[in-house]
Amino acid sequence: MKTIISPSILSCDFLNIESEIKHFDNIDDLWFHLDIMDGHFVPNLTFGPPIIKNLHKITSHKLDAHFMVSNPEFYIKAMKDHHIFNFTIHLESVEKNSLKNLIYECKQFYPSVGISIKPNTPVAEIDSDILSLVDLFLVMSVEPGFGGQSFLYNAVDKISILHDLRQKNGYKYIIQVDGGINDETAKHCLSAGADNLVAGSYIFNSSPQDYLDKIKSLRA
Ligand code: DX5
Ligand code: ZN
Repeated sequence: MKTIISPSILSCDFLNIESEIKHFDNIDDLWFHLDIMDGHFVPNLTFGPPIIKNLHKITSHKLDAHFMVSNPEFYIKAMKDHHIFNFTIHLESVEKNSLKNLIYECKQFYPSVGISIKPNTPVAEIDSDILSLVDLFLVMSVEPGFGGQSFLYNAVDKISILHDLRQKNGYKYIIQVDGGINDETAKHCLSAGADNLVAGSYIFNSSPQDYLDKIKSLRA
């Protein structure tokens, strides 16, 4: 499988969101990563349904929604008609014993369902029945909340653990890593077994004519 690159639109130019999105039209194996923050689970507030519901009109790339919110259960139905491909919930945002049911509920509306852990949460916090159920495992390599932070290298160990667990147990999840990704940190993630790199500032802090090169440098 080719590495999937997910530009995080958190770092794009929101005054020109349509042209920003269009710059990626002809790039393969690309998803748009949407950081939904509620000002409560994380100390930042971003965007929600009014913006997200329009994105599918201007792109055919898959939409990957990363919910950094205290009440992900609310968004399962609220987002269901907005063409989201993947719906990722943070382990730390839900009661552990309700997680399985939430994932089943998500599976009714979304083709892919992800689970995420923050930098201080070990992989072992996620039970095997959840690992066998999810389509995506998002390893956070920064504290969720903001773009532009430095990569935390304990994420690489978590990627290796998830890669080994997948091989041993036949799990199907893809391994996504998010936060502080650049051409250098990407190498470590890919050699540990990551399948999908989320990158915000590394891509969007360059000029649009360089976006493609930035993406290629992540895959190299
Ligand atoms: C942080 C978000 C990330 C963020 C990554 O909470 O989940 O998706 O946009 O930004 P960079 O790539 O700049 O670290
Ligand atoms: Zn994210």
